[in-house]
Amino acid sequence: MRARGPGRVNLLGEHTDYNAGLCLPFAVEAGVTVDAVATATGEVEAEALAYGEEDRFDAADPQPADGWRAFVRGTAAELATTGVPTAGARLRIESDLPEGAGLSSSAALGSALCLALLAVANKPEPDRRELARLCSRVEHAWVGAQTGMLDQMAAFFGEPGHALLLDCRDLSVEQVPLSLGGWTLGVADSGSRHEHAESGYNERRRECAEAARRLGVASLRDAASAEGLPEPLNRRVRHVLSENERVRGGVQALRSQDMPALAALLDASHASLRDDYEVSVPEVEQTVERVKAAGAAGARIMGGGFGGAVLALFPPGTEPPDDVLPVAPAQGARLLA
Ligand code: GLA
Repeated sequence: MRARGPGRVNLLGEHTDYNAGLCLPFAVEAGVTVDAVATATGEVEAEALAYGEEDRFDAADPQPADGWRAFVRGTAAELATTGVPTAGARLRIESDLPEGAGLSSSAALGSALCLALLAVANKPEPDRRELARLCSRVEHAWVGAQTGMLDQMAAFFGEPGHALLLDCRDLSVEQVPLSLGGWTLGVADSGSRHEHAESGYNERRRECAEAARRLGVASLRDAASAEGLPEPLNRRVRHVLSENERVRGGVQALRSQDMPALAALLDASHASLRDDYEVSVPEVEQTVERVKAAGAAGARIMGGGFGGAVLALFPPGTEPPDDVLPVAPAQGARLLA
């Protein structure tokens, strides 16, 4: 059995997922493949080819571990709690996704593991929203990353030729045709991975929770304005509210095939993430400037921030720089055989 989990790109809707807001991601071709063989040994043996590392654990009693092992053990454990225990398996994990470059290698790995272990247990696939939630529990409880649902939903619901309008209030999705008419989307790695990426992300989450508390709303999705909030909470809220509007604008731009409008929304999203949400860093700013100098009509920081990737939209006839990885909507997580 072979399962494939894709990486993801997010067109618009950054730092909105944990505020019950809107996002516009799509799954990409690059991803993680898990080859799985059912065994009756009572053990899971896993091999991560990218690291030349192995893991072996009691399938009935996975214990915590770090790094990629946390995903394997956590997925086996969380599946068991939903009535899908693993009797034993041999797993081989292979990736063609640049890690740490902001394409969510973790959701790619998590979704592939989920489908592989379900296949090994000979169980039908449950509701994909539940699988996305399961993968999110693995990230929170086993990996220790307090992320939202953007990456997992994109991995499970991506469709070729479409962006996914995701409403994180209820995890409802709508497929929006994405045809760029000769324009191209690409991702450039800023090369920077700031050591405070995780603490910075968690701090933003805390600020949003605090702002919602002060405004008396369950989540910032329900906030009407940032009025009355002190600095910097007012700017955090202003980003979240304006970013939700930019997602709506992006859907409109895709539906009317207005690429200059989409490019302007990418630029506006970047300015908001830089000035109001303050998740950019000098290396990202340089990368944005570089792709714009190479002809990008719009570009923005993508993902959790404090380093990572830049998404850029190039008009027909421009040649993206060599280090820009072209991206297009591809199939979400699936069994290959
Ligand atoms: C990371 C998280 C996502 C989301 C983005 C910001 O990629 O994994 O859940 O919060 O940051 O939009």
